[in-house]
Amino acid sequence: MSENVKNVEYGLEKIFEGAQDFLPLLGTDYVEFYVGNAKQAAHFYKTAFGFQSHAYAGLETGLKDRVSYVLKQDKIRLVLTTALTSDSPIGEHVKKHGDGVKIVALWVEDARKSWEETTKRGAKSYMEPTVETDEHGEVVRAGIYTYGETVHMFVERKNYKGDFLPGFQKWESDYNPSSVGLKFIDHMVGNVGWGEMNTWVKWYEEVMGFVNFLSFDDKQIHTEYSALMSKVMSNGNGRIKFPINEPAKGNKRSQIEEYLDFYEGPGVQHLAVATNDIIQTVTELKARGVEFLPPPPQAYYDEIPERLGVHRDMMKEDISLLQKLSILVDADEDGYLLQIFTKPVEDRPTLFFEIIQRMGAKGFGAGNFKALFESIEREQAKRGTL
Ligand code: FE2
Repeated sequence: MSENVKNVEYGLEKIFEGAQDFLPLLGTDYVEFYVGNAKQAAHFYKTAFGFQSHAYAGLETGLKDRVSYVLKQDKIRLVLTTALTSDSPIGEHVKKHGDGVKIVALWVEDARKSWEETTKRGAKSYMEPTVETDEHGEVVRAGIYTYGETVHMFVERKNYKGDFLPGFQKWESDYNPSSVGLKFIDHMVGNVGWGEMNTWVKWYEEVMGFVNFLSFDDKQIHTEYSALMSKVMSNGNGRIKFPINEPAKGNKRSQIEEYLDFYEGPGVQHLAVATNDIIQTVTELKARGVEFLPPPPQAYYDEIPERLGVHRDMMKEDISLLQKLSILVDADEDGYLLQIFTKPVEDRPTLFFEIIQRMGAKGFGAGNFKALFESIEREQAKRGTL
């Protein structure tokens, strides 16, 4: 087991015991970004990340104030939304935060009940239960605010047979770059302000019925310059995992502080997306221009067999190839995982992506945190924000 995962508070198998069942979640439904230019962002996510055109809503479908492009890759749905008028709250959001995640939508059996149970427990409503219909049936959606201006939308689609949501039309495009093998969202990480992590841990426990099953403090996650604290929240069936970070005092500005400064508040820090073949996926992403954090020093790769411990013989990947692609490796008692982090995908140093392949491991790469943060700090130093 990795050094850094010693204070595991709950084993994964115990999540079911600790979590509440008033909010059964079936999975992630979609992630909606508010962006400055959805048409161009959609082209980027298709070309660079291998997403497919899926659905569209805008002037042509009767909307007057915004446009949304829906992209799909296996189970992952991204929605990119841009305002069409200057007085739009979407435009205000982009003005304040830059491009970023506005809505993390959760697939539920009963959106009304999800909204009632969570608002009853103290959630601030974003949208009351709303029924939308078209010729394919009906969808019920309801939303609550989480940290910052970020929203959880509950989506009930059991009576709907359409492609995405009522109001959207199928988006047919002549430009269809192939998938890069991304499968589903493994976890989504939020950055919250100084001293706010436990407030949000409590919020996820009390309002959403989640449990805190992994915790890392600043003694575990620190470099020469900076530190952070992180707690991983999970729902009862383990399908939804939201680690929450807060900055901790260090000699210099941590990446969490940098995020909070540039996003101008709490928000989604990264989306971790799963692949079954990280070598192929990352090779393809790099060929398409996706930029990743540079690799840690040679010593990191020399230590991989030691880090893998009992899982050493299980690993099939060639370490020199992982090093060439700057893929990181970590292990826990259940297996190992391979992961890599992109540079921020917008000009503000805020949101980025993680590509992850789990080979049994259930952790989040804690053994890589130090190497990862040192790599981020070298990037921060270039930006003059360390
Ligand atoms: Fe992650």
